[in-house]
Amino acid sequence: MQALRIDESKIVQRFESRTLGSAQMFLRARDVTPGGVMAAIKFFDPYPIFMKRAQGSRIWDVDGNEYVDYLMSYGALVLGHGAKAVRDSIEAVMGSLGTTVFGTPTEGEIAYGKSLLGMYHPGGSVRFTNSGLEATTLAVRLARAHTGKRRIAKFEGHYHGAVDRLLFSYSPEVAKAGEAHSPLPVADSADVDKGLLSDSVVLPFNNWKATERILMRHAKDLACVIMEPFEEGVIPGERNFMNDLRKLTRDMDIPLIFDEVKTGFRVRLGGATEFYSIVPDIACLGKIIGGGLPIGAVVGEADILSLLDPREKQGTRVFHSGTFNGNPLSINAGRATIDALSRPGAFDLLRRRTDRLKDGISAVLAERDIPHQMAGEGGMFNVYLTSKPIRNYRDVKNSDLRLRRFLDLELITNGIYLKPENRYCMSLAHSDDDVSLTRERFARSVDNLAASAAS
Ligand SMILES: Cc1ncc(COP(=O)(O)O)c(C=O)c1O
Repeated sequence: MQALRIDESKIVQRFESRTLGSAQMFLRARDVTPGGVMAAIKFFDPYPIFMKRAQGSRIWDVDGNEYVDYLMSYGALVLGHGAKAVRDSIEAVMGSLGTTVFGTPTEGEIAYGKSLLGMYHPGGSVRFTNSGLEATTLAVRLARAHTGKRRIAKFEGHYHGAVDRLLFSYSPEVAKAGEAHSPLPVADSADVDKGLLSDSVVLPFNNWKATERILMRHAKDLACVIMEPFEEGVIPGERNFMNDLRKLTRDMDIPLIFDEVKTGFRVRLGGATEFYSIVPDIACLGKIIGGGLPIGAVVGEADILSLLDPREKQGTRVFHSGTFNGNPLSINAGRATIDALSRPGAFDLLRRRTDRLKDGISAVLAERDIPHQMAGEGGMFNVYLTSKPIRNYRDVKNSDLRLRRFLDLELITNGIYLKPENRYCMSLAHSDDDVSLTRERFARSVDNLAASAAS
């Protein structure tokens, strides 16, 4: 397949012929907002699909096309769209509390905070935010205040939200990013200035020797190491690598931050923290913990988070605030979601169905001799079109991303929705029948691609 010349125009034509309403809406949206989208991630070529309705595992676009949805709002929806538990929790807030937000502390945030701590950092503290990005920003601010140091180390290819301080070397052009074993900080956004870059250290994921060397070199200036413990939510840090990193950061008193915004409640109930049996100094949560409503959380060492105590004296205090932090809607929807996912057997079911789909997709590709690698744990995975192992960003860049994009457009044409080149996120609303249907449609999409190349 890789050797074949895919006819791009045919793929795009098929996509466009089914999505005329989205094309028109895209033109209208462009008059209102740059690129027609309210978040960069929502854009793709030739134009994004505008959705109109959802239920369980399905979504419908403005043209009336039905899709089995594997975006699940970038993994935020683990019970599926419109889950009863979430609906009831929202109605309960309006019914019994009588408002969406008080602007005061509430009992719900204590109970929910306690349950998150039990799973992610027993004995620690938690602070709620309104998004994953706010959580990672706060985690880094805390680490800086706690250590009195400035520099931030992150891994190449790891995403921590759209904030200047962390927007480097997430998706750098490889030609500008230095050697694989010694990557250079590259700005991902025009507002990331030279000052920020000079405070930034980039590490190569799953290359311990190089990571150790770079960390040792910068140890005295480092405020933290922040990482996605599974790159892109799916590529695991190798066990020895993760253990060595935990040991070295502990020995050198550098706070280790797990950004579990994707992996929390997805790779395991207890996230990557549970998967590796490694407790970071701070973990950032988001997505699933809001049950589909906006949220984020920082959980971690009580002595680090204690800097947030408003009674702390100026000079040592970290000021953090937010009108909607801990709002009852997000807290209640999140609690209902985690309760449902924690019921005996629920997470195992999610895992089993995800594995079935992952294996099914792999089998379709193998039957057609298409080289590929599957990556992912729990309720989320991705497929990389390459014969070489995928261990980090450079490996992803060397996979056939062009073919992958065409495949994803063809999947959309065939009623499978995921954001092109993004990962597959399952939910408890996906049935075994959905998995079988997806496998069939996946096979048809691959065969259509091959036919478009052959004809
Ligand atoms: C690992 C990771 N960190 C942080 C964020 C930012 O979260 P949010 O989009 O809620 O700001 C994301 C979003 O996808 C993420 O995947």
